[in-house]
Amino acid sequence: MKPRVLTGITTTGIPHLGNYVGAIRPTVRASQDDRFDSFLFLADLHALVKCDEPARVRRSRLHIAASWLAAGLDPGRVTLYRQSDIPEIPELTWMLGCVTAKGLMNRAHAYKAAVERNHAAGDDPDAGISMGLYSYPVLMAADILLFNAAFVPVGRDQIQHVEMARDIAQRFNRVFGDAKGPFVLPQAQVEEHVATLPGLDGRKMSKSYDNTIMLFEGGAKKLQASIRRIVTDSRVPGEPKDAENSQLYAIYRAFAAADEAARFRAELEDGLGWGAAKDRLYQLIESELAPMRERYETLIARPDDIDDILLDGARKARAIAVPFMEQLRAAVGLRG
Ligand code: TRP
Repeated sequence: MKPRVLTGITTTGIPHLGNYVGAIRPTVRASQDDRFDSFLFLADLHALVKCDEPARVRRSRLHIAASWLAAGLDPGRVTLYRQSDIPEIPELTWMLGCVTAKGLMNRAHAYKAAVERNHAAGDDPDAGISMGLYSYPVLMAADILLFNAAFVPVGRDQIQHVEMARDIAQRFNRVFGDAKGPFVLPQAQVEEHVATLPGLDGRKMSKSYDNTIMLFEGGAKKLQASIRRIVTDSRVPGEPKDAENSQLYAIYRAFAAADEAARFRAELEDGLGWGAAKDRLYQLIESELAPMRERYETLIARPDDIDDILLDGARKARAIAVPFMEQLRAAVGLRG
């Protein structure tokens, strides 16, 4: 059996360049590597933790699926599915929750940040914190472990969750299995140079900072307009620029070959104006995205076809999940 690579995207937003560089592109590339078996899913159960707007969850799922397909994902070759189409995932979540130390969950960054915000606001430490948020890492562990993924490509902010999945797997193996299983111990994979793309303002590109550049939505015009809004310092054309500390260059580097990036950097340090630099960045990104955007628009116009692709993926995923879950039920004493 080939080692499996698995990743999920929470379906609360419409993909932006940070999602593309950090997750979609590396995942699509990895899916073309014959040494691995690829699993990709829309984490719509995770979406419920952050979003109580049904229309947004639905819309986001569709746009994310279309984006991945447009970016070159071949559903004949990878297993592409919606998390909510796999009932074995929530079942495994419960089993894993029963071997997960509460103290481990107390250490999750997202939960701790929420508690700290409450503390700073003088609120009850648990104010506004749902069980969904608290046990989010257990659901994520189930996503990964149900398919025995060896590698999990994620953004930096998700490394801790993959490590927690590994801890939970180890504990389950120790209690109900042995050193060899039932679970493979997963490992996070972060693409070193471009793992976190900066946004317009230089902070990590994120919907919650409102500093994103949309991947396909709004078309080439919107892409160009967003790139023009990248914040720079006030140095005028002819003045040397500090390329290394500019988000413009960091974004450029995520789309350029190494020698091309080095040339651009040298030009900035030589005084290339920010306006001209933005035009160059736009040309670079647009040359990569234009053919994909065309496919995206075709796909998004036919949502029923996307649904069929996802249901087909769920069938493939469940061909693995159903018998493995049966084995896990037996392991904990629910069968046999
Ligand atoms: N939590 C991940 C994120 O917000 C999405 C996700 C859910 C995921 N389940 C996963 C990623 C399993 C990798 C593997 O980005």
